[in-house]
Amino acid sequence: MSDSDGATRLWGARFSGGPADALARLSVSVQFDWRLAPYDLLASRAHARVLSRAGLLDPAELGQILAALDDLEQACATGEFRPTVDDEDVHTALERGLLERLGSLGGKLRAGRSRNDQVATDLRLYLRDHARGLAVSVVELADALTEQASRNIDTPAPGMTHVQHAQPVTFGHWLLAHVQPLLRDLDRLRDWDGRTAISPLGSGALAGSSLPLDPAAVAKELGFTAPAPNSMDAVADRDFVAEFLFVTALIGVHLSRLGEEVVLWTSTEFGWVELDDAFATGSSIMPQKKNADIAELARGKSGRLIGGLIAVLTMLKGLPLTYDRDMQEDKEPAFDAIETLSLLLPALAGMISTMTVRVDRLAAAAPVGFSLATEVADWLVRKGVPFRDAHEITGKLVALCSVRECELEDLTDDDLKTVSEHLDPSVREVMSVESALAARTTPGSTGPGPVAEQLAQVQHRLDTWRQWAVEKVVPR
Ligand code: ARG
Repeated sequence: MSDSDGATRLWGARFSGGPADALARLSVSVQFDWRLAPYDLLASRAHARVLSRAGLLDPAELGQILAALDDLEQACATGEFRPTVDDEDVHTALERGLLERLGSLGGKLRAGRSRNDQVATDLRLYLRDHARGLAVSVVELADALTEQASRNIDTPAPGMTHVQHAQPVTFGHWLLAHVQPLLRDLDRLRDWDGRTAISPLGSGALAGSSLPLDPAAVAKELGFTAPAPNSMDAVADRDFVAEFLFVTALIGVHLSRLGEEVVLWTSTEFGWVELDDAFATGSSIMPQKKNADIAELARGKSGRLIGGLIAVLTMLKGLPLTYDRDMQEDKEPAFDAIETLSLLLPALAGMISTMTVRVDRLAAAAPVGFSLATEVADWLVRKGVPFRDAHEITGKLVALCSVRECELEDLTDDDLKTVSEHLDPSVREVMSVESALAARTTPGSTGPGPVAEQLAQVQHRLDTWRQWAVEKVVPR
């Protein structure tokens, strides 16, 4: 209906005048929910067909409505049709567009549906569609890490706990340790998609419809697996938004951990990695600077991704069934998460794939900090010494080295004998990074053998994800 102020509104007959400016300004969502327009039009087509099968639109009317929806979609795509400041939300704007094209016939499409089931449907469609694009970018980052790992299967590096040298590892293993969380993120996206593929259309405002609609047919047409089993839940449920934001927040956390490591690796103190000029930034005052801004933004942007999740969970907490306007706050965090990650992931992938790994620096750092002490303890265990005693003996060796400011392999045969009767010069065979790495042959461990196996598995799994990521789930 067109009010005295000229605005198209989906309500208003029972009101004596238009809304106060302050209300209109607070309530308007079209500036962000306009992103849902293509999905709203898609759902409108499916709804028109169902109305026609129910005998509520004759074939000529259906034809006119479908043609007008096509025309409107075209006009939206070219920017010829745009929402105005008076359109409260995407649904209002598109109804205006339809009315402009069809006159009162355009008003027939609203039968049997409400913005409540519409918005829930649109957002599910939008997120399912964009989750695949997100998966493409996650796979590309995983590919970049995997490719660097394949070049560093046997590059020694000082594995750390507490940011202290712990045990030698291969750098390939380390890089793949950043791929594994991304593979779990892809798993989470797929699981989420399965739960999100439920169609709310047909639920109306909350109670379903007295019109002979066919929710199962609409669900099928929109690429959903089934219609919602409960109309009240269908319009009140935003689990799919919260869960999506959990997945994106966790991706953000994973990227922040990778980002933090790249910041460390590229520092002068570490010097393990050099970034390509195209993926680093300089300083306006210090000409020598080369900064890892992408890695820092990966760390920093995790904050807004986590914030989006918390905002939506807090918004939902304690909300009575069914739809409440609070729920309009679900969209911006979801859009922001997608847009944030669609900027961050390609930048990180480019940074990782073009970085130069300083193999010499990594190899030199690998044995530093007594990282081979565990090898000595394990050697003693193989001689039958209880690990508790082996730990004690090796600790004494380290203490002796600390006093002398030397490395384990610098200790003399006499030193060894003095510390423990169980030690003899043949222990030196395990005091090398190469032997420590080669000794790690069990599946999932850091030796070059198991890392090569892991790499093959990861590449195979990424090929599967690559296919999943480009599957079309929303029939657009
Ligand atoms: N813009 C609203 C939202 O995003 C659409 C649903 C409005 N429904 C209503 N009954 N006011 O949630």
